[in-house]
Amino acid sequence: MNKPLKRRLIRFLLVLIAGLLFFAVSRVFDIALMSSAHLSGWVLFGTVVFLMLLSMRKRIRFFPIGSAELWLQFHIYVGFLSGLLFLQHIGWSMPNGTLEIILAIVFSVTFLSGVFGIVMSRILARRLTTQGHETLYQHIGPKIDEINEEIKAAVLASTEQSASSAIAQFYSKELHSFLVGPRNFLPHVLQVERPLQNMLKKISGFERYLSADERQTMQLIATKVREKNALDYQYALQSTLKIWLFVHVPMTYSLLVFAVTHGALVISYTGAVLS
Ligand code: HEM
Ligand code: HEM
Repeated sequence: MNKPLKRRLIRFLLVLIAGLLFFAVSRVFDIALMSSAHLSGWVLFGTVVFLMLLSMRKRIRFFPIGSAELWLQFHIYVGFLSGLLFLQHIGWSMPNGTLEIILAIVFSVTFLSGVFGIVMSRILARRLTTQGHETLYQHIGPKIDEINEEIKAAVLASTEQSASSAIAQFYSKELHSFLVGPRNFLPHVLQVERPLQNMLKKISGFERYLSADERQTMQLIATKVREKNALDYQYALQSTLKIWLFVHVPMTYSLLVFAVTHGALVISYTGAVLS
């Protein structure tokens, strides 16, 4: 077995053992007729606080314990474990009461956005590196503008040279809206190439009615359209990799607020911190 795989397996087993230990202690509480909901509530709360520490690890670079990669891996395993703890805590049934329902929804969205994020990261990150050169996210917009300007200059030169406005009309009817910003977000995420094929078909269909010089301009445009399409692809994938964190992270903070309120209410009306 190779080393990274072995290390992963050990970490996974550690988290599994922690989970099993929790279920054992929880059974002991049940048998001793103490409220295991209090215990599981505290363990769940501790787990959520641990999961939130990843934010600190990311922001404070000199935070001394463990590499960023190790933190992320534990985050994912403990994240999955928190789902089980949560189900155990709510007794594997739908919650009653408004605050409890809201809390359950907030927890579920945080959990599911995490799972969505990790699945997307694995799939899209691999696709980004296998599909040619990667462009820095902040460079995509300016590069798209650059391509649009280059095409506009070629259209203008061709119009002046051939004294025909055919290409200029084609530009404003078919190309302008495609070139002014990132397009075809969903098709790119879903790996559908139909929009590019349609555009290239329109270009080659239009070429038939042009002079040799104009055709050359259209060929240059086709090349630039492909380049623009590759930038759209990068934009769609890289944005998706960022967007989910805008759900995951704010949800984490709402979770903390609702959990503290819930814990305080439970303690006040049961009159007990632990059982
Ligand atoms: C992230 C932290 C937490 C989450 C997401 C959470 C979630 C929930 C939910 C959704 C319920 C409703 C279950 C139902 O109606 O069947 C519940 C019940 C309960 N929680 Fe928590 N909880 C958390 C933390 C805590 C803490 C820290 C405590 C300990 C003080 C606690 C003690 C309880 C108790 C005793 C119940 C049962 C209340 C009853 O049956 O009326 N929970 N929790
Ligand atoms: C329900 C409890 C969870 C909480 C409270 C939580 C909290 C957090 C926090 C605070 C961050 C740091 C984000 C930042 O500051 O940039 C984060 C990132 C992340 N979480 Fe979670 N998370 C939870 C569950 C999960 C689950 C179940 C998974 C996946 C199985 C997951 C996967 C991730 C990933 C992949 C990151 C991004 C890390 C990175 O790109 O650096 N999380 N989470």
